[in-house]
Amino acid sequence: MQQISFYDKQPDEGDTEAELLSGLIARNKRIAPKFFYDERGSELFLEITRQPEYYPTRTEMKLLGETSSHLRSLIGDDSVLIEYGSGSSEKIRLLLNSLKPKVYVPLDISREYLAKAAEKIAMEFPWLEVRATCIDYTQDLDLPFSTDGRRVGFFPGSSIGNFSPEEAERFLGRVRRQVGDDGALVIGVDMKKDRDTLERAYNDRAGVTAAFNLNVLAHLNREYGADFDVTGFDHLAEYNADEGCIQMFLVAKEDQSVSFASTQISVEAGERIHTENSHKYSAEEFVSMAERAAFEGTEVWQDDNGWFSLFYFQAKAA
Ligand SMILES: C[S@@+](CC[C@H](N)C(=O)[O-])C[C@H]1O[C@@H](n2cnc3c(N)ncnc32)[C@H](O)[C@@H]1O
Repeated sequence: MQQISFYDKQPDEGDTEAELLSGLIARNKRIAPKFFYDERGSELFLEITRQPEYYPTRTEMKLLGETSSHLRSLIGDDSVLIEYGSGSSEKIRLLLNSLKPKVYVPLDISREYLAKAAEKIAMEFPWLEVRATCIDYTQDLDLPFSTDGRRVGFFPGSSIGNFSPEEAERFLGRVRRQVGDDGALVIGVDMKKDRDTLERAYNDRAGVTAAFNLNVLAHLNREYGADFDVTGFDHLAEYNADEGCIQMFLVAKEDQSVSFASTQISVEAGERIHTENSHKYSAEEFVSMAERAAFEGTEVWQDDNGWFSLFYFQAKAA
């Protein structure tokens, strides 16, 4: 029999609107990447992962498939697996049969998509207790229920790269507190590599990443009553070597005046709205960061090109 519960901890709409407005009236306009993900954005992300240029997903899935039995020996039985930004929950499927956790806790900001993905997992794995929680993990990690069993965080997709290195270290520290002294973390991280490979991955020929980037404006129109002319922007993704990250922007093709939260916002032709950073690391840089956040006992697996790494970290006792 299916065992599924759904918890809604979405942030207050007023706070979200204030956060969006402060980014849109800033000198360098920005919209945080979490706003990509309404139901349409989550569908587009899944389509990105199927593009030939987007190497991270297939590389990470291969690593997960190859390491699942080793992960089982590290994690043990009856764990509580907490996935940050679970999306379609495709990757956890590769681990569930071998890890046999007691509870799976998918956390995601995209409520409807999360509910559907969690329902599918609960149907496919009827022995598993699924506790789906809609939450903004940049603001809140408190689970609205208690759990017994060893807590193991799962953070695939190199979503850690959306944080600056300082924010990423703080986030790892929060995860460490959430999993506790006997907890662990399995995390997938995109590695530094040549500019061409990186830029190709974020500029696929089918234009899916462009559609995903532009959907953030459509999302603001649909959910928050903005009136962006979505066709008046172009997608731009480029590698910033100084920052060590891919940066995505929407570039206005012409002047626009946009109404949002009772405010008129001017966007000039050529002006950029920054929508995402995706930081790349070396394995050594990432291990040092995790150690500063009180993890240890590292295991790391990489593909033959050294493009992507999967890490297992154990909590360092406080
Ligand atoms: C890049 S996708 C990765 C999806 C999946 N984990 C994978 O590896 O393919 C990021 C996921 O995190 C979710 N997400 C993004 N920002 C979030 C936030 N602040 N809080 C909770 N979920 C978030 C998105 O809805 C999306 O499902």
